Amino acid sequence: MVKEKTSKSGRRHFIGWSLFTGLVAFLGMLLYPVLRFIMPPKLAESSQNTVKAAKVDELSPNSAKTFPFNNKPAILIRLPNGEYRAFSAVCTHLQCTVQYREDFKMIWCACHNAKFDLNGNVSSGPPPSPLEAFDVFTSGEDILVSKKV
Ligand code: FES
Repeated sequence: MVKEKTSKSGRRHFIGWSLFTGLVAFLGMLLYPVLRFIMPPKLAESSQNTVKAAKVDELSPNSAKTFPFNNKPAILIRLPNGEYRAFSAVCTHLQCTVQYREDFKMIWCACHNAKFDLNGNVSSGPPPSPLEAFDVFTSGEDILVSKKV
């Protein structure tokens, strides 16, 4: 009788331990994706100083292209005279993405109707400072943009 009680107690303990372990595993399976969503892993900050922005024949005069530069948008502009300029496309006011307006021949931020000239300086609107300017140079068929040194 005593031996049977010990055996039942052992089985109960084993079943209880199995259920507890299964429950913990199940909750972990449910909570892990939620926690990964709430706390996403930090992205490694890209520290590229030079990126390929376009091909030489890609932009016609008086046009522009937005491209990623260190995980942020940048803008490459081909002026009406064929010269290239590049800037950060992040507005210095509230970080909206700026765009080139062919009709104004200016850089424009749609968020608060700000305008920047083709040197990146503020012409009108609330931005407190100019756009960050980048160097532009060609290498073979590629147009490269790099941070100013
Ligand atoms: S965010 Fe560009 S003007 Fe306000």
